[in-house]
Amino acid sequence: MILHYGRIDEGQDFNGSIGRMTRVLRALTRSGLLVVATGAAVRAQAVTPRTSGPRPSGPALATAGAAVPLSPAATRKAEALLRDHLPCLGCHALGGTGGRVAPDLATVRTRRSSAYIAAMVDAPARVVPAAAMPRTPMPAATRELIIRYLQTRPGSADGELPPPAAPAPPLRDGAALYAHWCAACHGATGKGDGPNAAALPVKPAAHADAAAMSRRPDDSLYDTIAGGGAIMNRSPRMPAFGESLSPAEIRALVAYIRTLCRCQGPAWSRDGGDTR
Ligand code: HEC
Ligand code: HEC
Repeated sequence: MILHYGRIDEGQDFNGSIGRMTRVLRALTRSGLLVVATGAAVRAQAVTPRTSGPRPSGPALATAGAAVPLSPAATRKAEALLRDHLPCLGCHALGGTGGRVAPDLATVRTRRSSAYIAAMVDAPARVVPAAAMPRTPMPAATRELIIRYLQTRPGSADGELPPPAAPAPPLRDGAALYAHWCAACHGATGKGDGPNAAALPVKPAAHADAAAMSRRPDDSLYDTIAGGGAIMNRSPRMPAFGESLSPAEIRALVAYIRTLCRCQGPAWSRDGGDTR
C-alpha cells in the first residue's frame, strides 16, 4: 500500500485513530488514489520523507526525452484524474477551466522541456523553491501518467533542467505560511475570498468564520491541510501540504486559523475534553 501521508510516516500525533484512518482509506480507494503496488515500486515509495530539499526522482518517472504518446484511454484517465481527484487545477488553468494563480498547463510544452515538467511534478521545491506549489502525493503510476500527459501537450520546448536551487528560507510563522501557501484561495484574512477563489468549483473554506470553524476539531483542520481535500471527502482542489510542510508548520497553520476565526474547536476535541 502506498500512503503518502506525512503525519503517519513521521509517526506523530496520529492519536491512533483507527476510525479516521479507515475513513481515509475508504476515501482513497473510492477516489482511485489508493493502489496496491509491488516490488520496486513499494520499496521506492513506501517511505516518502517529507522534504523541502532535493529529492531523487522515482524509478518509473518519465524524466526526459521524447515522451511516448498516450493512448486515448490513458488521456481520458489523466483528464478525469485532473478534473476529479487532483488539486492541480485549483491553481493551474487547463483548456479554459481551472485556477488562475499558476501557468496554463495546456501550453506548458511551449515553455518547458519534458525533463522540467517531470521534475516540477515530482519535486517542485527542488526546481522553483519559492513557488507556492506543494508536492502532491500520488501513487507512482498516477504521477507518471500526469507527467506523460503534460509532456505530450502540443509544443516542443527544449532545454536543460536548471541546477537544483537553494531551498527557500523556512517560513515558521503561521501568518507568513498562510500568506505564502493559502491566501491565494482562502484570502489574506481567511474570508474565503482570495484572488483565485472565483476560479474554483467549490468555495474555499472561510477560516475567519467562527461559526463554521468552531465545529471543526484541530485534528480535522490538520488532516485536511496535511492530506488535502480529496481524502477528507472534500473538494480535491484543496491541495495536500503534508509533503511540503513539516508537522510543526502545519500545527502553526492550525493555530493561525484559530486566530483568524477567534474560535476554538468543539469542547470534546480539545485537551481535557471528556469524550471523543
Ligand atoms: C497551490 C497551487 C498549485 C498546485 C495545487 C499545483 N501547482 Fe503547479 N505550479 C504552481 C505555481 C505557482 C507554478 C509556477 C512556478 C514558477 O514560478 O515557475 C507551478 C508550476 C508548474 C509547472 C511548470 C509550468 C511552467 O510553465 O513553468 C508544472 C508542469 C506544474 N506546476 C504541474 C502541476 C501539477 C501536475 C499539479 C498537480 C499534481 C500542480 N502543478 C499543482 C502552483 C501549483
Ligand atoms: C488552490 C486553492 C487552495 C489553496 C492554495 C488552499 N486551499 Fe484550503 N481549501 C480549498 C477549497 C476549495 C476548500 C473547500 C473544500 C470543501 O469544502 O470541499 C478548502 C478547504 C480547506 C480546509 C477545510 C476547512 C473545513 O471546513 O474543515 C482547511 C482547514 C484548509 N482548506 C486549509 C488550507 C490551508 C492552511 C492552506 C495553505 C497551507 C490552504 N488551505 C490552501 C482551496 C485551497
